Amino acid sequence: MSDKDVILIAYSGHAYVVAETILDNGLNIIGYSDTEEAKTNPYNLTYLGFEKENDFVGWSKEISFVLGIGDNNLRQKVANLIYTKGKLIQTIIHKTAHVSKTAIIESGTFISKNVMVNALVKVGRNTILNTGCIIEHECVLQDAVHIAPGAVLAGNVCVGERSFIGANAVIKQGVIIGRDVVIGAGSVIIANIPDGKKVVGNPGRII
Ligand SMILES: CC(C)(COP(=O)(O)OP(=O)(O)OC[C@H]1O[C@@H](n2cnc3c(N)ncnc32)[C@H](O)[C@@H]1OP(=O)(O)O)[C@@H](O)C(=O)NCCC(=O)NCCS
Repeated sequence: MSDKDVILIAYSGHAYVVAETILDNGLNIIGYSDTEEAKTNPYNLTYLGFEKENDFVGWSKEISFVLGIGDNNLRQKVANLIYTKGKLIQTIIHKTAHVSKTAIIESGTFISKNVMVNALVKVGRNTILNTGCIIEHECVLQDAVHIAPGAVLAGNVCVGERSFIGANAVIKQGVIIGRDVVIGAGSVIIANIPDGKKVVGNPGRII
């Protein structure tokens, strides 16, 4: 195995974006895991089985993993399984993303095309910063967050574990978003949001 070899976890939807970025970055996907073999195979990848099986071939290889799961809960659960097997999850950053030298990005996080991560940002493990989102200075994102395409987090925003910020949403500076929150596409959030709430609109209202 070369240190450029990885196994992709999941192979549909979000995983296509991840697969393309891995290949653009010059890594080699030796195969993918999923519940079953995919009917659509745009990158001609080899099916390796399902990672939940104890005899999954990936567990016996000296190899690292990349997460292609979009759902925050599931992504975090599978990441924990990979850690318990003593394996590494790679951080993948597309070459067109701009990440400040002062930002801290933890393992397993995926940063897509044209993302901007500004000064002193902290991003936890297994998070997704999706296409073209903007994470301004000093934002703190906990583990397994997903910032959808085009969303803008102004300075000093905090986002709790597993929260989802919808496409093109805008979060005002200094706002604290709790854990397991869902912010609808295009919403404008101007006040703190407690854990577990779903919020839509401008200004954001809890539904
Ligand atoms: C917020 C969201 C999760 C709500 O989904 P849901 O629970 O199925 O909610 P519903 O579609 O039943 O809508 C409930 C109410 O919220 C409103 N609503 C839903 N999403 C909204 C949005 N993004 N902005 C404004 N209002 C919204 C609906 O009009 C409805 O209002 P009503 O009760 O007055 O009729 C979803 O609409 C959404 O925006 N998802 C994000 C999509 C996205 O960004 N995807 C990117 C993937 S990478």
